[in-house]
Amino acid sequence: MDRIRIVGGAKLNGTIPISGAKNAALPLMIASLLTDRTVTLENLPRLADVSQLVRILSNHGVDYSIDGRRQGEGSEAGQTVHMTAREIVDTTAPYELVSRMRASFWVIAPLLARCGEARVSLPGGCAIGTRPVDLLLMALEKLGGSIEIEGGYAVAKAPKGLRGAEITFPKVTVGGTHVALMAAALAQGTTVLHNAAREPEVIDLAELLNKMGAKITGAGQSTVEITGVARLNGAKHRVLPDRIEAGTYAMAVAMTGGDVLLEGAQAHDFQAALDVLALSGATVESTNEGVRVSRNGGPILPVDVETAPFPAFPTDLQAQFMALMTRANGVSRITETIFENRFMHVQELARFGARIKLDGDSAVVEGVPVLKGAPVMATDLRASASLVIAALAAEGETMIQRVYHLDRGFEALERKLSLCGAEVERISAGG
Ligand code: EPZ
Repeated sequence: MDRIRIVGGAKLNGTIPISGAKNAALPLMIASLLTDRTVTLENLPRLADVSQLVRILSNHGVDYSIDGRRQGEGSEAGQTVHMTAREIVDTTAPYELVSRMRASFWVIAPLLARCGEARVSLPGGCAIGTRPVDLLLMALEKLGGSIEIEGGYAVAKAPKGLRGAEITFPKVTVGGTHVALMAAALAQGTTVLHNAAREPEVIDLAELLNKMGAKITGAGQSTVEITGVARLNGAKHRVLPDRIEAGTYAMAVAMTGGDVLLEGAQAHDFQAALDVLALSGATVESTNEGVRVSRNGGPILPVDVETAPFPAFPTDLQAQFMALMTRANGVSRITETIFENRFMHVQELARFGARIKLDGDSAVVEGVPVLKGAPVMATDLRASASLVIAALAAEGETMIQRVYHLDRGFEALERKLSLCGAEVERISAGG
């Protein structure tokens, strides 16, 4: 298994190109199941989760091709892919494929809407909480699907097609909103979603669906209306920039000091995180080219943070922000309200000398003046990013094991950081 070696202490200076968003790319790719025409996605990131989803979609009959690199295009440029599900050859998504990535469960929606049946293994994914799918299934049932759980599979049927409905989510769910959008797009009649997720990735999916001929209004607000159509067409769409990747590097710069342009990042997609960074002493500036973050000289100030659905501070940046707070000149409280078990990074951050106490759904972080490099283990995707941030500021060497977690969601992490002056290298298995 690959490892990442980091020698801390260098400031970050330069430009980091922000890749296409993993959490937008996955639902956009899944939406290709809704039509027999070609969906073209530009700016698709090169990530393990994207490759895994390609395997899953191929199993259903999706043909997938990638454009070659164009003249003058750097290796960091996102890929352009074409996906065509001319015929759905299999409506089962098996355990071996789905258990490795939770988002792959979302194929249940287009399969049910287009074929009237789907058999999808209950999901796996990062170990950050129980993460049920009851609300996704509730949405499909409201749309007229009948659902049974059999042998670890959700078996959904709608032989006469789906029909529009009022769906009220008791809790904001990104996956539930994606599933409802895709299923309702091909249902008969009008669907209204109440308490829908407002994340930028939801807007991106709705934009692609509308380009395909869907009739969706209100995406990005709590109430979304979808008028179903009989069939959807192909379309071309550019994946939005990854706000979590951008937020992660923003926190890395706030941690090490320096000055970095996060090229292509859109401040309005992660404004709450940028506001918190500004309170912690970093300088944040939104420019035409992206978002510029710097910290020169001043101390890291403690800031209390609570995660919540968009537009509030995202749970996917909680671990990274905690890494930053380990070096603050005071005490901060970080409260996680989305996932009950998303504190696995706490014990790994302690290996650097961080002082963190858990108190229910909060972590109380007492900043220390110095972190020291250590051998640590990545436990989930975003937790791994917090270890990278701590390592960049720690004295001496850190060796991060199990970096396959990072490869799920951060494209070319070590290259992007080294280009800004960090001492970071990947040590390949056997190397
Ligand atoms: C998406 O997961 C993201 N994944 C997650 O990112 C992100 O942390 C999460 O949204 C919250 O922003 C992708 O987009 C691929 P939810 P999702 O449904 O859709 C509860 C990362 O690191 N819930 O919005 O699965 C759930 O347990 C990943 O990139 C139910 O109770 O999250 C949680 O407490 C990790 N029943 C809350 O809702 C359900 O049926 C929000 O979850 C569904 C969810």
